[in-house]
Amino acid sequence: MSDHYHQLLDAAILHLEELKARGVRFVPGAQGSLAALNQAPVPVSPRKTFAAPVPERRPPTRPVVPPITAPHAAPESVVPPVSAPSLDPEAKAAAFANLQQRALACVKCPNLASSRRHVVFGVGNVDAQLMFIGEAPGADEDAQGEPFVGAAGQLLTKIIVATGLSRADVYIANILKCRPDTPGQSFGNRKPTSEEMQTCIPFLHEQIDLIRPKVIIALGATAVEGLLGKTVGITKLRGHWQTYRGIPLMPTYHPAYLLRNQAMSEKRRVWEDMLAAMEKLGLPISDRQQNFFLQK
Ligand code: URA
Repeated sequence: MSDHYHQLLDAAILHLEELKARGVRFVPGAQGSLAALNQAPVPVSPRKTFAAPVPERRPPTRPVVPPITAPHAAPESVVPPVSAPSLDPEAKAAAFANLQQRALACVKCPNLASSRRHVVFGVGNVDAQLMFIGEAPGADEDAQGEPFVGAAGQLLTKIIVATGLSRADVYIANILKCRPDTPGQSFGNRKPTSEEMQTCIPFLHEQIDLIRPKVIIALGATAVEGLLGKTVGITKLRGHWQTYRGIPLMPTYHPAYLLRNQAMSEKRRVWEDMLAAMEKLGLPISDRQQNFFLQK
């Protein structure tokens, strides 16, 4: 092993120990770098250090942000909390651009890579306090390269505007960044498979790590399953705060469900979930907003 390698390794270890001493329990790491670390041979001879000696240590044996390994595994139990110090704006923009570049070039699901028109990375404010997560792009999103721009998206935009925010204030993404293919069908959507979700979710984990929203709204059962590994029905879960790696997460109905079921009671439920999120964020709530569906 070259001295240069050891110097880098020592510097990395010292840096991580400093972070740990400051209470940081999670640092984002590219899968490729972590795999390379895992493969680095453990030195057999005493190594030179340029800094204070540090105890011998093996490289991490698992990725810092492990992928969900079982279809219904609860990431909460395996993925560490989002606690990395926030990056300065320049470093954050660079990390975001790098993440986007990797997502746009992804061909891990060959069927989706060959059928997609666009990788739908996400849209909005990278410093957003509120993040919405849906299932997967539909035909309109695939065509335009932006999440939630079709009929369900227009309803989501109305819901966001009703809170006093705009699409530019929040961040919107999906569990899957590619449209699930529907071979032999010229219309309609299909639910992402567990395998597709497991393959794609590391991109979303990284995105959330960079954005560090204060509240996440999971739109529909697939978003809840992808983020929390929970397959309990959305009817049971909605309205009840969950936690995604330390971030409060509110499950609610997907806007597509509201388009299918026009009952006022269901709209009111989604609005109540939005009010709970607004309250959690400390956003002002007017009497009109509070009584929105009661007035109708
Ligand atoms: N439905 C989703 O879940 N996501 C989109 O982007 C559009 C529709």
